[in-house]
Amino acid sequence: MNTTSPRDRRPQRVAVLPGDGIGKDVTAEAVKVLEAAAERWSLPIELVHFPWSADHYLATGVSMPAGGMEDLRDNFSAVLIGAYGDPRIPDMKHAADILLGIRFQLDLYINFRPVKLYAESLCPLKGKKTTDIDFVVFRENTEGAYVGVGGNFKKGTADEIATQEEIHTRKGVERIIRAAFDWARAHGKTRVCMADKSNVMRYAHDLWQRVFWEVAKDYSGIEPSHLFVDALTLQMVRAPEQFQVIVTNNMFGDIITDLGAALQGGLGVAGSANLHPGRTSMFEPVHGSAPKYAGTGRANPVGAVLSAALLLEDLGHADAAAEIERCVAQTLRQGQTTVDLGGKMTTSQVGDLLARMVASPQTARV
Ligand code: NAD
Ligand code: IPM
Ligand code: MN
Repeated sequence: MNTTSPRDRRPQRVAVLPGDGIGKDVTAEAVKVLEAAAERWSLPIELVHFPWSADHYLATGVSMPAGGMEDLRDNFSAVLIGAYGDPRIPDMKHAADILLGIRFQLDLYINFRPVKLYAESLCPLKGKKTTDIDFVVFRENTEGAYVGVGGNFKKGTADEIATQEEIHTRKGVERIIRAAFDWARAHGKTRVCMADKSNVMRYAHDLWQRVFWEVAKDYSGIEPSHLFVDALTLQMVRAPEQFQVIVTNNMFGDIITDLGAALQGGLGVAGSANLHPGRTSMFEPVHGSAPKYAGTGRANPVGAVLSAALLLEDLGHADAAAEIERCVAQTLRQGQTTVDLGGKMTTSQVGDLLARMVASPQTARV
């Protein structure tokens, strides 16, 4: 199947940005698992830790130092992020600079978010098997409602007006739709569903419609389909087994992947990749910084660990990635989990167990 040999033996530098809140807790565990995999498979991975976070921003006034983004772009193969968001910074300035900054400035146009049920007992839906919930979401990651175009007029007065515009470009829409079809073809999938709100968004989402049906013609053997996003949410709950690949815009992708995480058992279980093939990519759990759980041992590190597995896969270490995923699935099936999933383990106990299993699966399985 996949080869364990990396693309080449040059060191692959991975920037580690734990960020805020439980981001710090779960990243520490993902790092343990990464290090265990690197040891077992002799991977040429070098981890470099960065302190950029709310604490750092409040202490220094700087979210990311000048040249920081270029450093990531030019000197790193991948970035591993925990989470960003802190109640002391309500405008999310540091998160916008760092998290959205990395997505936008590194042009990571694919937000790849797998939705996979690892243990039947974790699904909130009745009677669903693990094979019923196994799809991926391709979320457009550099445009849409996230471009920050808009403004206020008469701010703070009774006559205030606020505008917030979405930007959708032909190129941007086409490249994410092609990425979804290409992935489907490469992975033997036969269906791609595009979700929009083109019945109301008659300009922007009409562009998605036209591009989707046009691009679909290039992929014979893959059945294209469309759902309005409201209907999609209903179908994700009613019959998730119909989905293999979903492609959608930035904001809808954000929303439906929290729903997707719920189908897997919760936010603690979902990992993601922010990709631009051939460039430095970024990996992060789907969840946020859950400030009230920071440092309590309640945070589930599995989303971060699965994000680290996606990172290894992107760097050419598919066997290590598959083994991490297998170990995660085993612990979830056996109830070796944190409290969010009904388990009794702490964040670091789960991380330690996974690292031990990845380092020496035979011993851990006994
Ligand atoms: P959140 O994902 O941080 O937490 C919502 C709830 O989900 C938590 O209260 C908790 O019950 C559960 N949860 C989330 N992650 C978990 C984990 N690993 N283990 C166990 N339970 C977990 O979302 P929120 O409360 O809406 O946002 C908190 C902050 O995080 C905000 O500042 C928000 O903007 C930010 N945020 C950041 C990211 C990111 O960095 N990618 C993603 C979402 C939200
Ligand atoms: C996510 C988060 C982010 C987003 C926030 C924190 C900017 O919700 O990664 O899902 O909206 O993309
Ligand atoms: Mn989100």
